[in-house]
This record gives sequence, C-alpha cells and structure tokens, in this order.
Amino acid sequence: MSKGDILVVDDIPDNLRLLASILTKQGYKVRLAPSGTLVFMSIQSTKPDLILLDIKMPDMDGYEVCKQLKVDEQTRDIPVIFLSALHEAIDKVKAFTVGGVDYITKPFQTEEVLARIETHLALRLLQKRLQKNNKQLQYEIAERKQTEEVLRHEITERKQVEEILRQRNEELANTLQQLKTTQQQLVEAEKIAALGNLVAGVAHEINTPVGIGMTMTSHLDTLTQEFTELYKNGSMTRKKLEKYLNTVQQSSVLIFRNLTRAAELTKTFKQIAVDRSSEQPGTLMLKEYLSDIVNNLEPVLKRAQHQISIVCDDKIKVTTYPSALFQIITNLVMNSIQHGFKDRLNGIIRIEVTYHSGKFVEKVPNKRITLHYFDDGNGIEAGIINNIFEPFVTTNRQWGSTGLGLHIVYNLVTYKLKGSIDCESIEGQGTDFVISLPILVVDN
Ligand SMILES: Nc1ncnc2c1ncn2[C@@H]1O[C@H](COP(=O)(O)OP(=O)(O)OP(=O)(O)O)[C@@H](O)[C@H]1O
Ligand SMILES: [Mg+2]
Repeated sequence: MSKGDILVVDDIPDNLRLLASILTKQGYKVRLAPSGTLVFMSIQSTKPDLILLDIKMPDMDGYEVCKQLKVDEQTRDIPVIFLSALHEAIDKVKAFTVGGVDYITKPFQTEEVLARIETHLALRLLQKRLQKNNKQLQYEIAERKQTEEVLRHEITERKQVEEILRQRNEELANTLQQLKTTQQQLVEAEKIAALGNLVAGVAHEINTPVGIGMTMTSHLDTLTQEFTELYKNGSMTRKKLEKYLNTVQQSSVLIFRNLTRAAELTKTFKQIAVDRSSEQPGTLMLKEYLSDIVNNLEPVLKRAQHQISIVCDDKIKVTTYPSALFQIITNLVMNSIQHGFKDRLNGIIRIEVTYHSGKFVEKVPNKRITLHYFDDGNGIEAGIINNIFEPFVTTNRQWGSTGLGLHIVYNLVTYKLKGSIDCESIEGQGTDFVISLPILVVDN
C-alpha cells in the first residue's frame, strides 16, 4: 500500500524526474504536472493527499494555483508545500498567505523534503480523522435530539392519556356515588313501603276485636236506654228484666274476650320491633340453655305426645341475647305443634347445632354456629313458602293466628343476633330451618 498520493508540480522536467524518483523510492504514489493549468486536470477525478508546488511557472504561477485550490471546497483541505528557488522572506510570507502549509527552498535536502512531507501527511491524516469524528459526533447529536424529541412526544402523549384516564375515573367515581345514593333512596323507599304495610296490617288486625267491642258497647247502650224508659214508664216486667240481664251478661263476656284479644295482639306487635335497649348479651352454655327452653315447652308438647331432641356439643359457649334465643325457639316449636303436627300425635322435632370448623374453639372472632331446626310435620304450603318471614302471612287466620311468629323470628335472628335464617320445606315432608349465628354477638 502506498504511503500517500503526492502531486508534484514543476515546469522543469529534471526537477520533476528527480522528485518523482526520490518519492517513489520512499513508497509514495507520485503524479506529475509540468504546469499550473495541468494541476486542475490532474486532480479532477482523484484528489492527491499532498501537493508539492513550484512557484515560478510560465502560464500560471504557484501562488495562483494555490489560491484557486483554496477557493474550491473539494480541494481546499489538500496541504500544499511550496518548493521554490525564491528565498526572500516576502515570498515565503506570500506563500503562507495564499494558503500554503510549508515552504522549502531549492536546492533542497532530500531528508528535509521527506520529513516535511511526512509531517504534513500525518497532520492531514489527523485532520481527516478529526473531521470524521466531528461528523460522527454531529450525527450522534442529531440522532440524540431526534430520540429526545420522540421521547418528549411520547411523554406528552402519555400525559394526555393519563389525563383522559383520570377524567374517566372521576366520572366513574361520580357515577358510582350517584348509584349509591339512588340505591340508598330505593332502600329507604322500600323500608317506608314495608313499614306502611306493617302499620296497615297492625291496624287491620286490631280493628277486628276493637270493632266488635265498640259494636257491643253501643248495643248495650241502646238496650240500657230502652230499659231505663221501661223502668221510668213503670212498664217493666220480670221477663223483660231477665232478658236484659241475660243480654248484658253475654255482651260483657264478648267485650272482655275481644279486649283480651286486642291486648294480646298489642303484646305481639311490640315484639315485631326489635328491642334495642334493655337486655345485655349474656354468655350461655348453649346445650344447657336450649334444654331449658325445651323443658319450658314440655307441657304443651306432652299433651300430643310430641318428642323433641337436641344434638349439641356440651362445650359450645355463645355470647348472645338469651331472651331472643328463647323467643326464636319457642315460636318455631309452637309453629311445629300448631301447623306441622295439626290433628296429629307423635311429632318429632330435632335441634342440631354444628360448629363450623369441626371442633369447638372458644373466642375465635367471627366464628359462627349453625342451628338446624327440623320437624317431620306437614311441611309449609307451597303457596306461602317464599313469604313466610313477611308479617301477616298465615294459613290459620280463622283460628286466630296473626302470621307474625316467623316475622318476629326473622327480625330477632337478623337484627338482634346478627345472624341469618333460611327455610326449606316440601309439603308433606316436614320443615327445615337453618339458622346461622355468630358465637359472639356485638352489642347494639
Ligand atoms: N313448622 C311448620 N310446619 C308447617 N307450616 C308452618 C310451620 N311453621 C310455619 N308454618 C306456616 O307458616 C305460616 C306463618 O307462620 P307464622 O308463625 O309466621 O304465623 P302463624 O303461626 O300463622 O301465626 P302466629 O305465629 O302469629 O300465631 C303459618 O301460618 C303456617 O302456614
Ligand atoms: Mg306462628
């Protein structure tokens, strides 16, 4: 490989030859130009790495050649070393002014020419590298700027997306809030409607005995007025007196019976409202307490030879409202007797308590027990099975039932004992109540 491509310019052929031979020997590729004008033809296709330029030439001198080389962007970086017999300082200054990088005076020393050529070629190489690096650097900067621009764009876009998402979230939160409010309003409306129904039911129930009582008293009043007239007129007879006394007696029995009924109803109505004040929760040994309740009901059960059994771990302790539990079991047993075992002897009732995670462990928060109540009676009529916990649902109105027993049970289990109750029953196949209760009821 050549050490460099050098163009030698001189109008004297001997000089040209001499320089060509020196440089070729050193491993340079040499091109020759015997006049200034020929320089431009020679460098048209390939540019040399360095030009050795004579000053004094006939058609175009070295200064002029150099000047033109420096004007053209393609050639301005090629180092030019002047080689001349002129040795006045002014000539050297001019040579540098027009763009030469060096000046060698003829006759020259070969070593000097070679050393200078080498130096300038090395400088040129460094300069080229520098230019290349610069270009690379500029390219990289431009690329980085582009990347930054892309990133900036992406960030802006992401911010926009985030803003849209934030707005959507806000809208969703608002919608949710609205839904909650609507739901609350609906629940309120439903509660008010249920309360209205309850009040209407209560009024209707109480109206019957009170109505009968009022009719009877006004009837008595009329009779008494007539009776007084008879007495005042002196037209009273023994027969009339006996008839009056008889009616008064019958009427007061009826009035008493209806007032008693009204009083009983009032007592039951009071149970509908879950009592929130008086009683404190107590800790009970569950099996023992259930046995007490059942013993209390024994006289009623015995009359028709019904049997009741309790299956419950002796160790289960619950902290709950005893009177509520008492009322719940009593209502269920009374229903089994009144409806399940209607006109029947030897009914079977079973109360089975299970603890959720197998063995009973005391004081585990949120633990629950399941109380299974079962009778092998007639079952609940299909027509009312879905409504049995609603007030005034009864199949026994003509015999004086009000249909409040299971409504009271439901309220006590749900609101007082914080539990839940479900019923399953198929007509003719007995009735099943599943009651789930927390082991520890939290005070109201
Ligand atoms: N164990 C049962 N077996 C068969 N039917 C039942 C049983 N328990 C309840 N029922 C049916 O469910 C209806 C509603 O019971 P609920 O205890 O609420 O009212 P009631 O017993 O009719 O009246 P009250 O309890 O107010 O005296 C009953 O009339 C009856 O038809
Ligand atoms: Mg009942």
